[in-house]
Amino acid sequence: MAELVNVTIDGVTVAVPKGTLVVDAAKKIGNHIPVFCYHPKLKPVGMCRMCLVDIGTPKIDPATKQVVRDENGNPVIQFMPKLTTACTTPVSEGMVVRTATEQVRAAREDILEFLLTSHPLDCPICDKGGECPLQNLTLAHGPGVSRFDYDAKFHNEKHVPLGELIFLDRERCIQCSRCIRFQDEIADDHVLQFHDRGRGMEIITFSDPPFDSYFGGNTTDICPVGALTTADFRFKARPWELQSAQSICTHCAVGCNITLNTRLETRHGGFEIKRVMPRQNEWVNEIWICDKGRYVHHFTRSEDRLHLPLIRREGRLVESTWQQALQLVADTLRAADGEIVLMVGDRIPNEDAYLLGQLGRAIGARVSVSPNVPSHYADVARAFGVGKDADFKRLGRGDLVLAVNADVEEQAPVWFLRLRQAVVDRGAQLIIAHHRSTKLHRYASAIHRFEVGRAPEWVQQQAETLAQALQAARHALIVFGDEHLDGPRARALAQLLANLLLQSGHAGRSDSGLLPLYPHANTQGVCDVLSPHTALPPAARVVWAVGVGDPQELPPAGFYIIQEVLHTALVEQADVVLPSLTFAEREGTFTSGDRRVQRFYRALPAPGEAKPDWWIAQEVARRLGFEWRYNSPAEIFEALAKDVPAYAELSYAALSRVVEQWPPIGREDLYYGGTAYDNTGGIGARYAAEAETRALPPYDVTIPEPTIAGLKRGPRMLYRDGELIRRSALLRARMVSLQQVA
Ligand code: SF4
Ligand code: SF4
Ligand code: FES
Repeated sequence: MAELVNVTIDGVTVAVPKGTLVVDAAKKIGNHIPVFCYHPKLKPVGMCRMCLVDIGTPKIDPATKQVVRDENGNPVIQFMPKLTTACTTPVSEGMVVRTATEQVRAAREDILEFLLTSHPLDCPICDKGGECPLQNLTLAHGPGVSRFDYDAKFHNEKHVPLGELIFLDRERCIQCSRCIRFQDEIADDHVLQFHDRGRGMEIITFSDPPFDSYFGGNTTDICPVGALTTADFRFKARPWELQSAQSICTHCAVGCNITLNTRLETRHGGFEIKRVMPRQNEWVNEIWICDKGRYVHHFTRSEDRLHLPLIRREGRLVESTWQQALQLVADTLRAADGEIVLMVGDRIPNEDAYLLGQLGRAIGARVSVSPNVPSHYADVARAFGVGKDADFKRLGRGDLVLAVNADVEEQAPVWFLRLRQAVVDRGAQLIIAHHRSTKLHRYASAIHRFEVGRAPEWVQQQAETLAQALQAARHALIVFGDEHLDGPRARALAQLLANLLLQSGHAGRSDSGLLPLYPHANTQGVCDVLSPHTALPPAARVVWAVGVGDPQELPPAGFYIIQEVLHTALVEQADVVLPSLTFAEREGTFTSGDRRVQRFYRALPAPGEAKPDWWIAQEVARRLGFEWRYNSPAEIFEALAKDVPAYAELSYAALSRVVEQWPPIGREDLYYGGTAYDNTGGIGARYAAEAETRALPPYDVTIPEPTIAGLKRGPRMLYRDGELIRRSALLRARMVSLQQVA
């Protein structure tokens, strides 16, 4: 328990942990000291002086070293001769802070008047207008008039591209260095810096390609003015025109909480996503997202979205009604006599995957996941994954992070940020084993190398040494990937790592466990609720592929049912095409790589007649004689929770639980934490690992021989070519520039 210190701010006394800054102590009691350079997630620098306050401390008698008291026995408070920055001053016992004196009021006016001398005042066309701390604080604390000559303003370039994704408006910058500090302290990509001095001081990027970071979009959220804007949102909409829906990013296993901002477009009469913003969840992504999650959304309005069912007639796919398509699907499945493969992708929400699994088994189909979904070790992660209440924020001194065959920044970018903090900021030990270098290698205390594709053999050989290192640690987190491993060998790796947890006494402990780097938001969830077969039959009469995404090698079949959101190459193979919805057009749940089940909500209307996958499954089921009557994902989740033991304690109500988070982030507080959204949709809930509920035996592991197919499974980089990223012009351009440099 941290030592508490009493401080009195404008007459209100509050006890806060020792080391708390005055600005944060005030925030805790609703006293909003204005700031520009300070950000609660960054180290204070005291650059802008906006937070000046009057600070006093109990007077100490130099002779007795005791607090001097007045005639009533109260400590005599000695105030500083000048105002002090609240963002750099930690509280001390008995401190008294005055934030509403005439002197403080005048200082705030002066700072704002001074800042505005070199500010262009182009609020009517500035993207930050409506959610700009400088606008808001000027209205609240500014002087109203300026003594400076408007014509003497310092002018600078206004449209400076910092790479393909971010624009800098140089004359709007108030030189707070939040952007530089985010890149240095949080992302560890040292790509921004101040250049020059005085009035001409400006932000520059000196990396090649410019602004070389996967996290750059976050700087636009915390920039307190419109100096940094994304190429995605720049001049596209005003904040007050936007509607917001709380959602979950689908592009890796982290499950970052996001808000989808949408607007009705007169151009085509429909809603579209104008920007993707982080949403606070201190247990998942804090207030950060990566640039893939931020910019890849354009596929939702791609011209080749499927709007209507298609049926192949005389060699060509032609539009049909749902009635015709569903009847054809039902008749074909009935006639297939169980020789059916039902294949589900790992972006499909839990509710839909569950229903598809139920239907598949009821008609005797081989229920599986698509070939690129690493399902072979989902049961190992379910058994030995991190604890139900694990919190990466608690990892620090005395704890061990073991990363085996894992490229965390490329495969789970926000987990990279969080593990880096555990190691660099809080002193956890990091041991890495990989066949190549990754960014995480910068922080390792021990680095091991194995031959390409030989991770399981390496773990087996090193088992004793590794178990000893784990045993010495308070908590042990093991993050692993499946680069250059086929399913059976990746399973062997997971099992060997689980055995290490058992051997070292960490199995089933809260902040310990396995953390698999799955490719998408719902790899774990689909495997949990679908119980897929891991082997496919050599051929089938019917293959029904749902949300498989990128073209895959489907088993040879006489009839292909393809259920997709986009007209991909896969669709060209179809006999029937069933158009489905993206996560943005519906609600449901995903289960992240650390088994946190989270709700997402609808942001957009359905394009054309496209339907959610659960609806399609139910309509097919009814035509096959099943009496299903689900009206919503919520009803399906209830059935799922009764049927899938791991989910027994979960419900939509539990997942929607909202708790107070620190620091407070959101609409009211944008001057403090930036424009990330507060969380009103729920922080989700993690289900317990099996090892937490009962003693599990070690795995009996035989490592299969490597296969060519396995060795060919190269690294899964964040910006890799695929059906979704290809539809984001911004990320395409970024990929080209990265390739040119490489
Ligand atoms: S660009 Fe924005 S965040 Fe960066 S120093 Fe300027 S005002 Fe601050
Ligand atoms: S880290 Fe993963 S979940 Fe988070 S925004 Fe990036 S791709 Fe999406
Ligand atoms: S000096 Fe305190 S917020 Fe900038």
